[in-house]
Amino acid sequence: MKDQLEKIKKDALEALNKIKDIDALKNLEVKFLGRKGLLTNLLRGVKDLSPAEKPLIGKLSNTIKVDLEQAFATLGQKFETEKLEKELKKDFFDTTIPGTARPLGHIHPLSQVQEEVERIFNQMGFAIMDGPEVESEYYNFEGLNIPKDHPARDMQDTFFLKDKNDKDHGRMVLRTHTSPVQVRTMEKYGAPLRVIVPGRVFRYEATDASHDTTFYQVEGLLIDKNISLSHLKGVMAEFLTRLFGKPVKVRFRPGYFPFVEPGLELDFSCLLCGEKGCRVCKHTGWIEFMGAGMVHENVLKAGGVDPKEYQGWAFGFGLTRLVMMRYGIDDIRLLTNGDQRFIKQF
Ligand code: DAH
Repeated sequence: MKDQLEKIKKDALEALNKIKDIDALKNLEVKFLGRKGLLTNLLRGVKDLSPAEKPLIGKLSNTIKVDLEQAFATLGQKFETEKLEKELKKDFFDTTIPGTARPLGHIHPLSQVQEEVERIFNQMGFAIMDGPEVESEYYNFEGLNIPKDHPARDMQDTFFLKDKNDKDHGRMVLRTHTSPVQVRTMEKYGAPLRVIVPGRVFRYEATDASHDTTFYQVEGLLIDKNISLSHLKGVMAEFLTRLFGKPVKVRFRPGYFPFVEPGLELDFSCLLCGEKGCRVCKHTGWIEFMGAGMVHENVLKAGGVDPKEYQGWAFGFGLTRLVMMRYGIDDIRLLTNGDQRFIKQF
């Protein structure tokens, strides 16, 4: 039996030497080591051997089996490697070349500044409100104490929607300012409240470097007991100081808006020249920033707030203008015309 084992080993190794491909290798493996293979068959006779022979033959056959298995595996591996190398040569792919980077978008400068404005007012306890861009005539005008046929409507000549009618609140209009959200907020939350409303607004406007039909505003509204304009001055000075990162002063001038009484315009000190006067502040030392005032009692009533118990102030400034000031952009149209060469600079 020993000789038979040695012969199987010899035959197997000789046959292995002649093998040229993986299929032949597999067949050969079955022939010698398979369940009905030569070696397996021979080993079935081990149980009939004498007790003296059994361990010797057992050991030998095991060694031969392991040796053969190893020989088959080594050759198999060699074939696999050759196959891979051949494929690689055929279809060369350099795995060390860096991939193509996809262009990444980024936050629009208008949104960047809006987020900053929201963060600062949030820190001062203001909530962020939103309102519809397609607004009813009522909220955009009447609710804000701008009656029909009032000349103040000419200040905000605008786009009306042809077919859309809001049953109770008149025709629909692309809102001309963020102020309609004042009444909506009071209706929804009552007093006291503190909100800002950033948003997109629309005007029927001949466009030029400083006018566009679409732009962005931020509305502010604070309603509480014993509120005066000194609170507004403090809040705005603090807001602008945090926004610009240096001390900013504010001043009031009288101004007219139908939804406030008294109404005012707020300017802030020119940071470029330190109030000495320069081109940016038109040699006045101050920059015109926003309209504001004490909320008109008709507006409080429209929002369902009792003017005898509560009062407050409101303001509205141009977010678009703020972005233009901050980055020295001299044409408003650049911000919304989608020109990548411009927008990629931020
Ligand atoms: N809505 C005004 C506009 O678009 C700006 C404004 C002025 C808002 C005075 C206010 C305000 O809240 O009190 O021109």
